[in-house]
Amino acid sequence: MASRAPSADVVVAGGGVVGLSAAWEAAQRGLSVHLLDPSPGRGAAWVAAGMLAPVTEATFGEESHARMFLAAAARWPDFAARLTRATGMDTGFQACGTIAVGLDASDRAAIDQLLEFQRGLGLDASRLSASECRALVPTLSPAVRGGALMPGDHQVDNRRLILSLIEGCARAGVTLTTERVVSVASDTKGAATGVVTERGDTVAAGTVLLAAGAYTPKIGGVPEGVVPPVRPVKGHAVRLRAPGDGPAFARTVRGLVRGRHCYLVPRADGSVVVGATAEERGYDTTVQAGAVHSLLDDARLLVPTVDEWEYLECAAGLRPGSPDNAPFVGPTSVPRLAVATGHYRNGFLLAPLTAEAIATYLTTGAVPPPLDAYPVDRHLPAARTGSGR
Ligand code: GLY
Repeated sequence: MASRAPSADVVVAGGGVVGLSAAWEAAQRGLSVHLLDPSPGRGAAWVAAGMLAPVTEATFGEESHARMFLAAAARWPDFAARLTRATGMDTGFQACGTIAVGLDASDRAAIDQLLEFQRGLGLDASRLSASECRALVPTLSPAVRGGALMPGDHQVDNRRLILSLIEGCARAGVTLTTERVVSVASDTKGAATGVVTERGDTVAAGTVLLAAGAYTPKIGGVPEGVVPPVRPVKGHAVRLRAPGDGPAFARTVRGLVRGRHCYLVPRADGSVVVGATAEERGYDTTVQAGAVHSLLDDARLLVPTVDEWEYLECAAGLRPGSPDNAPFVGPTSVPRLAVATGHYRNGFLLAPLTAEAIATYLTTGAVPPPLDAYPVDRHLPAARTGSGR
């Protein structure tokens, strides 16, 4: 039977890395928070590799994102340390750096071009010869033609981080309900008053935050033209385990393999995340043989010993893509309704920055820089973002 939960300052619809981080940060600021997700942390956040890569994710045509990415990366050491202090859990944050390598001559040329672009933006990246690449990662294929070092592109163990955030939320008093939000509830003036769950229960709150990643536009009860355009971009990621104790190698390896992008992210426990496809297939999370094949093929061309590694799993998740590959964080035109979605390939990198922006918005009414440069209504037909509080 439908019931009404005690009201909270904020109700968060969606418990991926962004929703959990925002809930935790808001609770740290003394707000009462209720988060709903049928399976917290088990969507795209569970599939992700957890790369924190402001430089390697900076790409042509997205120059202005680089400042936001760097601001986000700068938050990570403190965010991870605070979460560990609050929970006693290791998040798996590692300041390991990244090397980008090219398999053939044209891959290498493409890396050189990107390097020039990244250095032009003032980003920290330097050219490496083939032998310098192999000195940093000895198991790289002798075929690798060279690459670049990005010493500030790090990683977090996505699954450890998610478990730490769930624990952190619990310890900070966040109410966590494992139910799906189906719609936003509103009053007669159209202001958001809470959310309605799949069981028909209403959770009332001062502010509603939609943070359901690619599923955000599926939440009902919101007039058309309010929720920003977010689409699912499918990513397959394979998990392997290298033999022996400790990580397979010391740095993240990003490769260009005959024009295809591939990455291998080594965890402290010897497992390695190999990713990722980027596919426009709607809301489909089927694991497909062809994707597993091409990821493994690219990985073994870069690191031939992959052939000897244990195969653990392959999963597919849905990144929340936005038209300009930048997120939507802040108020909508519906009073008391805010969103945090559209983080595309950078949910983990941007989570602490987003959480800080949401907590600041909830307590002051303003989204701080640099996310204020990306208003929620920038891709909506009639730009009309209101106070939303
Ligand atoms: N951040 C890497 C990916 O989305 O595959």
